[in-house]
Amino acid sequence: MSDIRLNSSKLGTQEYWNTFYEREIGNFEHNEDDTGECWFDDSDAESKMIEFLIQKINDGELPRHYDTLNIIDLGTGNGHLLFQMYDDFEQELDVQVDYNFKGIDYSAESVDFSNKIKSKKYEDQRFEFEQVDLLKKQSDFLDANREKYDILLDKGTLDAIALNQEPVEDLDGKIGMDVYGSQVEKLMHRDSILLITSCNFTEEELVKIITKETELKVWDKITYPVFEFGGVKGSTICSIAFIKE
Ligand SMILES: C[S@@+](CC[C@H](N)C(=O)[O-])C[C@H]1O[C@@H](n2cnc3c(N)ncnc32)[C@H](O)[C@@H]1O
Repeated sequence: MSDIRLNSSKLGTQEYWNTFYEREIGNFEHNEDDTGECWFDDSDAESKMIEFLIQKINDGELPRHYDTLNIIDLGTGNGHLLFQMYDDFEQELDVQVDYNFKGIDYSAESVDFSNKIKSKKYEDQRFEFEQVDLLKKQSDFLDANREKYDILLDKGTLDAIALNQEPVEDLDGKIGMDVYGSQVEKLMHRDSILLITSCNFTEEELVKIITKETELKVWDKITYPVFEFGGVKGSTICSIAFIKE
């Protein structure tokens, strides 16, 4: 368990996200170009995460060779990261590899929204969205998909989870951010990569949270512009790739 704590916020509740995506579905139905909020857009996090992976794949730097990559986005929201990744993979990958995209989220409205975007814009069967709460101990999804995913993505989901300080009943009263790593690890085989982007934690904190009670180790990271204030250097966001050893 880590001693790092954030203050609770409404962004840590399922009701908040349900209402949020309900509103975004309304906007999308009104205007199909409006596919919703893209978190950390001002730091260009989405394209940096995608570019990072494209480079690793093209340079043959993934720890294993894959004919098909199983990719999952944890807390997928509007699915945008996956849709954009698909577009960019189609354009920029220069190695022969197939890929499947799965997006999970505990908000039924998020899943509904992602499916609506998929059917309007991406009929490709390689996208699947499913309602899954990552913090359930008895989880059919986690049980059925043990060690399935080669690449796991998280953009802002651990951040949202960490904004809820309520003990998770199902998980011996621990709080979400303290069980996140061991829950997500179930979906990983040896050599899987988990790429997390956070704006709430420093690199040091993120590493501590993820590695403390898991077999995950830092594999690589994305660099962002660094600001300096009062002699202290930092960046507003961090993305770290962990590997299961
Ligand atoms: C800040 S949003 C980020 C959404 C998306 N990744 C993006 O970058 O646009 C956090 C997401 O995490 C989801 N989420 C929060 N707690 C979750 C949990 N326990 N299980 C699954 N999804 C969760 C929320 O519904 C929300 O879609």
